[in-house]
Amino acid sequence: MTRINELASISEEKSSITRIFGTAAFRESSRKVLEWMNEAGLKTSIDNIGNIKGMLPGSDPQAKTLVIASHIDTVRNAGKFDGPLGVLMGLDLLEEIIKTKKQFPFHILLVAFSDEEGVRFHTTYLGSKVLAGSFEKDLLNKKDDQKISLQQVITEMGGNGEKIFADCLPPDQWLGYFEIHIEQGPVLYENDIPVALVTSIAGQIRVELKFRGIAGHAGTVPMNMRQDALCAAADFILELEKFAGSNSNNVVATVGKLHITHAASNTIPAEVVCSLDLRSADENSLSYSSEQIQLFCESIGRKRDINIEWKLIQQTKPVICDDNMSEQLEHSIRNAGYPVLKLVSGAGHDGVAVSVVSPVAMLFVKCYKGISHNPLENVELKDIAAAIKVSDNFIAGFKE
Ligand code: HGY
Ligand code: MN
Ligand code: MN
Repeated sequence: MTRINELASISEEKSSITRIFGTAAFRESSRKVLEWMNEAGLKTSIDNIGNIKGMLPGSDPQAKTLVIASHIDTVRNAGKFDGPLGVLMGLDLLEEIIKTKKQFPFHILLVAFSDEEGVRFHTTYLGSKVLAGSFEKDLLNKKDDQKISLQQVITEMGGNGEKIFADCLPPDQWLGYFEIHIEQGPVLYENDIPVALVTSIAGQIRVELKFRGIAGHAGTVPMNMRQDALCAAADFILELEKFAGSNSNNVVATVGKLHITHAASNTIPAEVVCSLDLRSADENSLSYSSEQIQLFCESIGRKRDINIEWKLIQQTKPVICDDNMSEQLEHSIRNAGYPVLKLVSGAGHDGVAVSVVSPVAMLFVKCYKGISHNPLENVELKDIAAAIKVSDNFIAGFKE
């Protein structure tokens, strides 16, 4: 908890917690986590995408590796726990193993992933994609809102984009992936249960939409002669809310970013860019909903004589957590004396990127009213203690 608070004090903004991938605050937090991993006696390294890695070698040099990880980048005005909790609880587990001189037949690799949220480049899992070996080269050319490329940010951080492909943990060396994360939903809080077993992680579609109309003078263009890009975007956003709100579609949809180009209070907006974040635990619902949303988006464009560009940024399928690992985790929860609650994760996690090469298991920890991506995010010490007890149990008895 002391480390959680210390990491939370490192931010780009004085009055809130914001650590976007590649910024000075992000790099300061990476150095802090690296320092803690070194103090713990782990074999540390930083890869070309800025993942901080701490290896605890097993007794058999030929053994596979169990990866325990989460992320240390945050959204803007974030909470203290989304990401750092999983990294720092993993560190705590390894410190305990080193202290009690427990020997494991397998290696354990602790990773603080550098970009899970995807705030800067709108595409997520950059860190875990590198470790999983699924990083696509063209991602290096992605530009942020200031037109700075990912390649440039990697170079600024002391990395080399060309060498990024060598940073993967080879597919045959993965024993498993285990992530501890706050639930970011209200179920554990409502039931006052400290931990839950994650059964699957929702798929997500991230889109950038560009609405193009005609700029005009706010005072002279009659209302019935306007091609107002912002009104078209507003129409779309409320239609989207209605579509996702009718639960029959089994999706959640969010517009979290909206930008008016050349915004001025006395100019009719000609161009508006907004994000679309679509999620579902069911792959068919996700793709069907995406098609339906595109259809009503086009009809709004026709009705308002607005050109609407739909640019897919990222699409990830829902991921089912591994049976064997989940069974062992369920056993550990029961052994620790807690009821076993099974939840689908509506939030995305690095396990999605890792699932291409490794079995994945996740443990959720109760958080205050399920609030997350919000400074009110909070976890009680007793629930962290419960999750540590379960995880200690899970790692100690882990079998492939
Ligand atoms: O967007 C998410 O689901 C997570 O916060 N990365
Ligand atoms: Mn997270
Ligand atoms: Mn998050």
